[in-house]
Amino acid sequence: MGTALVTGATGQDGSYLTELLVDRGWAVHTATRSVDEAAVALPDPVVRHTADLLDVPGLARLIDEVEPDVVFNLAGISSVAESWKRPEATARIVGSAVAGILDAALATQERIGRPVRVMQASSSEIFGRAEVTPQDETTPMRPVSPYGAAKAFAQDLVRIYRTRGLHASSVILFNHESPRRPTTFVTRKITATVAAIAKGEADTLSLGNLDAKRDWGWAPDYVDAMLRVATAETPSDYVVATGESHTVRDFVATAFAAAGIADWERYVTVDPAFVRPDDAPEMRGDASRIRRELGWAPTKSFEGVVAAMVEHDLAR
Ligand code: GDD
Repeated sequence: MGTALVTGATGQDGSYLTELLVDRGWAVHTATRSVDEAAVALPDPVVRHTADLLDVPGLARLIDEVEPDVVFNLAGISSVAESWKRPEATARIVGSAVAGILDAALATQERIGRPVRVMQASSSEIFGRAEVTPQDETTPMRPVSPYGAAKAFAQDLVRIYRTRGLHASSVILFNHESPRRPTTFVTRKITATVAAIAKGEADTLSLGNLDAKRDWGWAPDYVDAMLRVATAETPSDYVVATGESHTVRDFVATAFAAAGIADWERYVTVDPAFVRPDDAPEMRGDASRIRRELGWAPTKSFEGVVAAMVEHDLAR
């Protein structure tokens, strides 16, 4: 327990992480852009700061003022599709901003004479079209999107600052979902639309690549992994994944089944507008290392994740 500074705290992961930290007795400071404030409510005891990742000196001042034991960096553009629309902004927010955070953490650590750890939320998108499946910590980075390239750059920086004496780690997160996922991501788009169809409020679910296979876990499990990695004795990079992959088509069928609809094909159309310029055919992670070294394990099955999301959307 100590003091945490969480960037991106109003997103899906940031909100779950903030709740977990407060529950465990941490003093939590959040750094969000003011426009994010309405996204997800944060628990009361947190100290809120407004900071923009692109304002490197401002963020450095905040780290120096808060003197956190850990900076959790969860902020940035989190959508691969969005990164194709804003590649340059993605490079700066997801990539180079991390250089500013690492440098500020090291400077504060040297000034106060105690560790300022950094936990970076990296992504399986760094692997891109990987030649091996499943992917683990030894799989080469070969990103195929601006988002993946920026995350790969940031992860390299984390490793480099580790060699300079910073307790800096990356969690290489495979897809992780929850009712807090925005509908810009395929899972929540599916569960929200399936619920609307079940209630007679919609009649079509329009999607892109139905054959893409992804490793979908439960978001609260993934923030638990972040805390384990940040508080581990030795800093390192860890893959966080379930080890199981399913196609988008499987997700759709399972979601319709959870809403009691069997003949789902008649509701689904493919729209080329949702097909990406390049999309890895399969992402599946091997999380043996974090299971073995830090005792982490996923708590929900694929069916459990889909059912929880559909139930939430049906009840809305
Ligand atoms: N968003 C979206 N919308 N994706 C679709 C659609 C659609 O209509 N139809 C098919 N897909 C496919 C995408 O092409 C991709 O293969 C898969 O569904 C998952 O897409 P997203 O849910 O948008 O997630 P993502 O895999 O691109 O990125 C998420 O996971 C990464 C971890 O691998 C994000 O959470 C990233 O921030 C995260 O790093």
